[in-house]
Amino acid sequence: MIITLANQKGGAGKTTLAIHLAHVISLAKRRVLLVDCDPQGSASGWAAAREEPSSFPIVQMARETLHRDLPAVVEDYEHCVIDTPPRVSALTRSAILASNLVLIPVQPSSYDVWAAGETVQLVQEAQQFKPDIKAAFCINRRITGTAIGREIEAALADLPFPVLKAAIAQRVAFAESSAGYSVLESEPSSAASRDIKALSKDILKYMEAKSW
Ligand SMILES: Nc1ncnc2c1ncn2[C@@H]1O[C@H](COP(=O)(O)OP(=O)(O)O)[C@@H](O)[C@H]1O
Ligand SMILES: [Mg+2]
Repeated sequence: MIITLANQKGGAGKTTLAIHLAHVISLAKRRVLLVDCDPQGSASGWAAAREEPSSFPIVQMARETLHRDLPAVVEDYEHCVIDTPPRVSALTRSAILASNLVLIPVQPSSYDVWAAGETVQLVQEAQQFKPDIKAAFCINRRITGTAIGREIEAALADLPFPVLKAAIAQRVAFAESSAGYSVLESEPSSAASRDIKALSKDILKYMEAKSW
């Protein structure tokens, strides 16, 4: 499966979720490649900050021809996770075209949900070429103990893709993970780890797959 994390908004959680999804897939003993399609190289920087190599390789491929080049690169992998840059660009378009699933992280604020419209449009454009590309929203940075506001639920319901049930909470462990660790290694039995595992399960369910 090729999963692209996309949202033209910076800070939505694309890189954080891309790294953690790749890690959870690697823990299922699957060969997974993380493709860093952001010219700023945040995912590559994450890898560089580590003392030991991660359990999955990361390659930098900020190329507008990603959809053409990727099949040969991922030949030896069972799964691939693509991290994309903020802002709508040819890079994001190419990454979306290359994928089976586009996961759009959104923060639970009306502003963020409305801003996701541009990403929705990009996916819909790609679906005209490749109708089997699936897409879903994932709430990131939910404040524990709060329900998502009614207006946000309504705004999300207006968008053409479903919202995965598993939301990722606002957690210090995720903020700290940018220093080169995954919450699954620094705090394997934490609430943050449970968030990511639940997200991984929801993705499998949505893609009608039993396991990675
Ligand atoms: N669920 C979360 N809880 C706490 N901090 C988070 C969470 N998700 C992301 N962050 C932090 O927010 C910042 C932006 O996240 P990042 O993944 O880099 O977003 P993007 O790649 O979409 O720009 C980073 O510093 C990251 O550590
Ligand atoms: Mg990023």
